[in-house]
Amino acid sequence: MCGIVGYVGSRPVSDLLLEGLHRLEYRGYDSAGIAVMTDTEIVVRKKSGRVGELAQLIKQQPVVGSIGIGHTRWATHGETTDENSHPHLGGNGEVVIVHNGVIENYDSLRTQLQTLGYVFRSQTDTEVVAHLIAHHLGEQLKLSDSEPGVDVCLKAVHTTLDRLKGTYGLCAMFRDCPDTLIAARSGSPLVIGVGKDEYFLASDASPLVGYTQDVVYLADNEVAVLQPSKMTVAHRTSGSVQPSIQTLDQVSSDIDLGDYPHYMLKEIFEQPQTIENALRGRLDSEEATAVIGGLNLTAQQLRTIDRVVLTACGTSWHAGLVGEYLLEEFARLPTEVEYASELRYRNPPMSDRTLVFAITQSGETADTLAAMRECKRKGHPTLAICNVVGSTIGREADGGMYLRAGPEIGVASTKAFTSQVTVLTLLALYLGRMRHLSYPAGKRIIKQLRDMPSKIEEALKCNDRVAEIAAKYAKYDNYLYLGRLYNFPVALEGALKLKEISYIHAEGYPAAEMKHGPIALVDEQTPSVFIVPKCGIQPKVISNMEEVKARKGPVIAIACEGDAEVARIADDVIYVPDVEEYLQPLVCAIPLQLLSYHVALLRGCNVDRPRNLAKSVTVE
Ligand code: F6R
Repeated sequence: MCGIVGYVGSRPVSDLLLEGLHRLEYRGYDSAGIAVMTDTEIVVRKKSGRVGELAQLIKQQPVVGSIGIGHTRWATHGETTDENSHPHLGGNGEVVIVHNGVIENYDSLRTQLQTLGYVFRSQTDTEVVAHLIAHHLGEQLKLSDSEPGVDVCLKAVHTTLDRLKGTYGLCAMFRDCPDTLIAARSGSPLVIGVGKDEYFLASDASPLVGYTQDVVYLADNEVAVLQPSKMTVAHRTSGSVQPSIQTLDQVSSDIDLGDYPHYMLKEIFEQPQTIENALRGRLDSEEATAVIGGLNLTAQQLRTIDRVVLTACGTSWHAGLVGEYLLEEFARLPTEVEYASELRYRNPPMSDRTLVFAITQSGETADTLAAMRECKRKGHPTLAICNVVGSTIGREADGGMYLRAGPEIGVASTKAFTSQVTVLTLLALYLGRMRHLSYPAGKRIIKQLRDMPSKIEEALKCNDRVAEIAAKYAKYDNYLYLGRLYNFPVALEGALKLKEISYIHAEGYPAAEMKHGPIALVDEQTPSVFIVPKCGIQPKVISNMEEVKARKGPVIAIACEGDAEVARIADDVIYVPDVEEYLQPLVCAIPLQLLSYHVALLRGCNVDRPRNLAKSVTVE
């Protein structure tokens, strides 16, 4: 949520910052801006709107330098105006900052600064930080009677940070210390790219790809000073830190759109490969189990676990619901799925035999991180199912499994969902084989899992048919999504996908719940999407379809190839390959992702950057 870039070195910085902002735009796209240190002063160019509009502005009013910072905004405090865009100058322009996060005590700080004569140009919480640094810089200079140098700037930053309540990932640049950037983090990620006589800074690794593979992930409460040939990192209370340089394994092609018109479509079509990646090396046919190396718990410890808590937000929470069904069925482990935003403030009884998993694509979601930390604090082994290597949750968890899905750039999560479900299936198989699951059952699951990439390939063939159906239904403003058992979370996920990228109201329910209220919504203008592949209770879901038809509700059905009975009742059918019930979420998610994609396109929506959303929700 919000993207930060920074650079010190000798490259022309404006273009570099703009390219970084383009790559980070999925984190927030309300407005964008850069600040560049020229030979004489700090120059700011910023604008509400997309990075492309900022690029136009910079084309008309170029700014030359080799040190600078940039930001793409997802508004928290203050509307999306030019003034509220970052970077923000402090004092009389002696400092400029970009900031991600939320400063909770900004109001009282703002009043104090106004009393001291500081004039505010924006409604943001960030401007408070900029003025506060300028203020403490002035105080330091008075005290030490010295020239403004790195030490003085650093002290001003530290004193400012001591006064902030809330979260931040920020970067400051100083007029009188022109070769230096100071970055600090508490709750909002920052990564430093290490080059030869140059350093890069960003809120995630994507802007660094192609420039350097050596990266340092700042930890909470660390402050970094970056100069072209020097980097120092210190913890705010415990002092100097030896930065650990890690290797970035992303390559430029991972973030290229290729021949696809949108990242979302590209990512939907990557799913045969991403599921294959999630499975690679993790299936042991001989022992009929999964190979899971990173849990950092012995088999003996895992056998004593008597309860699992899965915590997540949004789409990842939906994957968690599928995980609940899998873990209870395969491993007979009582499992609860908790919204991370609730769990972080609740105090549910959990014994020391409760195993907690945080499920997250980005590894940076503020609520999921907070819930994970809360569980860790109480002593529960807390593991992560995470996509982004090096993310805060990935690093802070006691162990876990990576999804290996590659960067997910479309704001609506698609491939991460199916990879999460795949990894949860592996986990259920692994824990199941330690407990109740028989050898033949394990063998059968492995065989089915091995077939999944080709089944997904087959499912993707529905794309043209889905596009036709989308053309017929894109005009409706309300949808119901209905499914049962393993397909109930899929219904929730289908509804969420449609809502977030086409702004259509959609609700997901267990199909049988329909008659307890939602059926009142059914009319000729409200299509119901039934997820109704073959399964033990399919006849019951078919009865629910009949109930909708009896009330003249249009029905789109997701059914197994050749299912004549469903075809007889539904207005339109999208076929998916027939797979075991517990794997149906993987194949059934595909047409629903495609349906939301095509409907959104037909309604003229920006599928990769839907309004009001951001990819990585790093604020509470
Ligand atoms: C929906 C979507 C969000 C995320 C949620 C959690 O398409 O992308 O609902 O799933 O914000 O994000 P992660 O998985 O990064 O923790």
